[in-house]
Order: sequence, then structure tokens, then C-alpha cells
Amino acid sequence: MAGKSALLLGASGLVGGELLNCLLSAPEYEKVQILVRKPLGFKHLKLEEHVIEFENLAQHKECFKVDDVFCCLGTTIKKAGNRKDFKKVDVEYPLEISKLAKEFGAVKFLVVSSMGADLHSKVFYSRMKGLLEENLKEIGFDSLHIFRPSLLLGDRKEVRLGESAAEVLAKGISFAFVGRLKKYKPIEAKTVALGMYKAAQGKETGIYTYRSDAIKEISLI
Ligand SMILES: NC(=O)c1ccc[n+]([C@@H]2O[C@H](COP(=O)([O-])OP(=O)(O)OC[C@H]3O[C@@H](n4cnc5c(N)ncnc54)[C@H](OP(=O)(O)O)[C@@H]3O)[C@@H](O)[C@H]2O)c1
Repeated sequence: MAGKSALLLGASGLVGGELLNCLLSAPEYEKVQILVRKPLGFKHLKLEEHVIEFENLAQHKECFKVDDVFCCLGTTIKKAGNRKDFKKVDVEYPLEISKLAKEFGAVKFLVVSSMGADLHSKVFYSRMKGLLEENLKEIGFDSLHIFRPSLLLGDRKEVRLGESAAEVLAKGISFAFVGRLKKYKPIEAKTVALGMYKAAQGKETGIYTYRSDAIKEISLI
């Protein structure tokens, strides 16, 4: 039987980079397509890299004829420069990608959202993640998996002062993340990537949302 094909967005990022390694070594996938702004600079037999302008996603329709779509796109207000451009990366691109994927027959859509995602939140970031989630639910995928990690841990090339400080603090009080607080415990980007890969192998249909504690559990299956 032929293997599956995957489309990965955000392959140059922390979670996306881990997921790319995972998918390339996974026996279930015979082709892994990535859409990137700049070449990643490495080759692999299964890897098909498309360097594109994300403003023109619809010009790359052939890339969306895949089984499973993994979306790990995201930015920060600081990097984006303003709310409008943040929304483009964290909401508009993922939604356009989901619509194109649905149009071309993708069955599963797996996306990294965030802890606290809430359409009615007063916090802009959480509201945007909530907006993305609500809109994705309307697309009609057989299987939609939403990952809501807490603070991500991993080797990030760029320095993000707020996140680094939060990481140091969280490590110092890691003993406190037990019981009902488990969902707030920082999580390795590698664990999120593994959870996404594992979730994509299930046969179940429907909409699934995973907090950090559930992501950890599914990554261990
Ligand atoms: N950081 C945290 O602690 C945390 C916690 C919970 C949830 N999250 C969410 O988890 C997701 C993944 O986070 P991460 O830390 O892995 O992200 P990341 O390392 O910042 O990677 C983001 C990815 O998005 C791409 N991207 C950014 N701006 C783009 C643009 N204008 N056009 C096209 N692609 C663009 C980046 O590509 P380039 O390399 O080309 O920029 C990169 O591949 C994000 O949605 C984030 O909001 C993060």
C-alpha cells in the first residue's frame, strides 16, 4: 500500500522543525511537502520543499493534494510589527491553507494553537487563537486536531526575553505543576511534534483539542 503524503507549514520553526524530523523518519509517510519563505538548506528523499510567498498561497494548489496537513505557523506581535500582520500569520494563512487543503481532499488537519485560546478573551493573542480554532471547526475536515500547548521549551535560535524569563521561572517551580495545574506545565516542542504525528495516525473522525497534559499523553502512545 502506498504511504501517506503530508503538508507541513512552519517547518523552519521550533515545533515545525521537530515535526519535520519526525515526519521524515516516519514509515507512514512517503512524501513530506513543506511551504517555506526561505530554503531550509537540506535534502531528504521524502522531502519536497516549495519556497513561496505566503501572500500567494492559492497559486500553489498542487501542494494541497495531501492526506494530512500539519500547521505550525506563528509569529509574535514584536516580530510581525503590528496586530494586523500578526493576525495574517496566526489566523489568515492557516485558514486559507485549511480551505485549500479541504478543497483538494485532505482528510486530517492538525494545528498548533495555544493554551488559553478563547474567541472572547480580552487578550489579543488568545482571542486570535480562539478565532482560528472557531473558524477551523467550520471547514468540515473529517478529523481536526487542535493542540493547545503551554510555554514551549526547546532550542530556539532567536532570543525571546519574555519566554526565556517564563521558562526559568517555570523550571524553578516545576514541582507546582501537578494535579489540575498539569496543563500549565511548560512542554518540549519535541513532545508537541510527536503528539501531532501520533494524533495523525489515528482512525477516529471528529474534532479533538489537546492541552499540554493531553499532548504529553498522546505523544507516549
Ligand atoms: N512560544 C510558545 O511558548 C508558544 C506557546 C503556545 C503556543 N505557541 C504557538 O505554537 C505555534 C508554533 O510556535 P513555535 O514557537 O514553534 O513558532 P516559531 O518557532 O516562531 O516558528 C514559526 C513558523 O512560522 C513561520 N512564519 C512566521 N511568520 C511568517 C510569515 N509572515 N509568513 C510565513 N511563515 C511565517 C516561520 O517561518 P520563518 O522561519 O520563515 O519566519 C516559522 O516556520 C505558534 O502558533 C505559536 O503561537 C507558542
